Amino acid sequence: MIFKTACLLTGGDPSKLELFVNNRTRLTGEVTVSSSKNAILPILAASLLTDEEVQIDRVPSIKDVIIITELIHNLGSGIEKKENKIIFRAAQVGTSPDYELVRQIRASFLVAGPLLARHGAIKIALPGGCAIGTRPIDLHLKGFRALGAGIGLSGGNVIASSSGLKGNHIYLDFPSVGATENIMMAAALAKGTTYIENAALEPEVVDLANFINTMGGRISGAGRNVIRIEGVKRLHGSHYTAIADRIEAGTYMVAAAATGGDITIKNVIPEHVKAVTAKLIESGAQVAEGRDKIRVKRDGAIKPLYLKTLPYPGFPTDMQAQFMAYLSCADGSSVITESVFENRFMHVPELSRMGAKIKAESRTAIIKGVKELSGTRVKATDLRAGAALLIGALMAKGTSIISNSEHIDRGYENIVDKLNGLGADIYRQEEESRH
Ligand code: EPZ
Repeated sequence: MIFKTACLLTGGDPSKLELFVNNRTRLTGEVTVSSSKNAILPILAASLLTDEEVQIDRVPSIKDVIIITELIHNLGSGIEKKENKIIFRAAQVGTSPDYELVRQIRASFLVAGPLLARHGAIKIALPGGCAIGTRPIDLHLKGFRALGAGIGLSGGNVIASSSGLKGNHIYLDFPSVGATENIMMAAALAKGTTYIENAALEPEVVDLANFINTMGGRISGAGRNVIRIEGVKRLHGSHYTAIADRIEAGTYMVAAAATGGDITIKNVIPEHVKAVTAKLIESGAQVAEGRDKIRVKRDGAIKPLYLKTLPYPGFPTDMQAQFMAYLSCADGSSVITESVFENRFMHVPELSRMGAKIKAESRTAIIKGVKELSGTRVKATDLRAGAALLIGALMAKGTSIISNSEHIDRGYENIVDKLNGLGADIYRQEEESRH
C-alpha cells in the first residue's frame, strides 16, 4: 500500500526513479509552499490522543505523510481521505505500531507519546538511525520516565507502561524538537501539570501545541524555553490546518539566489525564515518580505559566508545542504559548521562530483567558490542532501542525473512540477537496470 501510494505520487517505483535536470536554469516566477512536513507529522500523531473525529486540511502529498498515515491506520484508526484533507477516527487503537512502518521514518516514534497517554502502554520499534546521524531517543525516554512510565528495551523495541502518567518538571539536556513534541503529547492527558524546560522553540512545536489546544488541551509557553502543560481528562476532536513549510520556502528562496533568478514564494511566514533571509542578504541577494510572501532575486556576485547551524531561531540545520550548493559558486571561501547533527555532510562528495571544491572535517566544511558547476550523475543520500543536489544541478552547465530521488519526495510536494513551473527542465525516468 505504501509504495503503491508513493508510486502514485511519483509515477513509478520511487526506488528506481532518477531525476534528469537539463542544464542550468535562471528560476523565475511564483511558487506556493505546502503545509509543513515537520508540523503535520506530529499533528497526525496527536490525532491518536482522542477517540473523536480529527480533520486535517491541506495535507501535503509527500512520502513521510503517507507512511505515518498508514501507520496510524494500521493501529486501528479510521482514515478517510478527501483530496488533500484527511479525517481520522481513532476510536479503538492498538498499543504496538507496525515494526516495519516505524523503521521507515524516524518521525513514526512520535506516536509513542500519544499511545502512552491514551493506553498507558506501548511497544514500539527503536527508530532507525539515518544518513544524518545516530538520532538517539534518550531525551524522549527521559521525559516518559519523568511522567511515571516504566521503560524497557527488548528485541529492538521500546516497551513502556504506566498506571497513569503524572505531571512533572522535565529538563531537556538539548532542545530536541521530537522529544519536546513527544513529551508534550504524553503530558497533555497526564494527571497534574508538566513543565518542559530548555524546550525546542521551533514553529512546528508551537503549531503542535496550538493543535492540541484546539482539542481542549491546556498548553502555554510553546515557542519559549519553558512549556507548561496542564493535563486534562480527555481531548475532543478538531479541524485544523498546519503552518506553511519554512524549509520548503527556504529551499526555493536559496534556489532563486543560486540560479541568479527572481522568485516570489507564496504562503510563507516571513518570521519563520528570518535566519535564511538574513544570510541570503549577506550573500548579496535581494529579499523583499510581504505579509505571506517573500521575493528573492540575485544578479550580482555571490558573497562567501560563515554559517553555523543552531536550534531555532538560529540558522536551520535543514537548510545547511542547500546553502552549501549555493556557496559552491561564491566569490571566495565560505565556512559551514553543522552543530546540530554529527554527520550531515553526505552531500559533500556528491557536490564535489559536480566540481565544487569542498573540504569537510568533522562538523566543519570549507567551500572554496568555483566559477561554475558541471552536470553529472549524482546520488541523493537524504532529503535535504537531495534538495542540495537539485539546486547544484540547476546551477550546473550540462545535464545532471540524480538517483535515489525518492529521498526528495519525502519532504517536497510536487517539486518537479513546481521547479518546472519556474522555468526548469526536469523529468523523472526509470533507472536503467544496470548489471
Ligand atoms: C526534527 O528532527 C526534524 N524532523 C528534523 O528535520 C530537523 O533536522 C530536527 O528536528 C532539528 O531541527 C521532524 O520534525 C520530523 P532533534 P528530530 O530531536 O526531532 C539529538 C528534515 O530534513 N537528540 O531536535 O529528530 C539528535 O541526535 C528533518 O525535515 C538526542 O541526543 O531532531 C540531534 O543531534 C531532518 N537525544 C539533535 O538532538 C534525543 O532524545 C537534534 O535532534 C533526541 C535528539
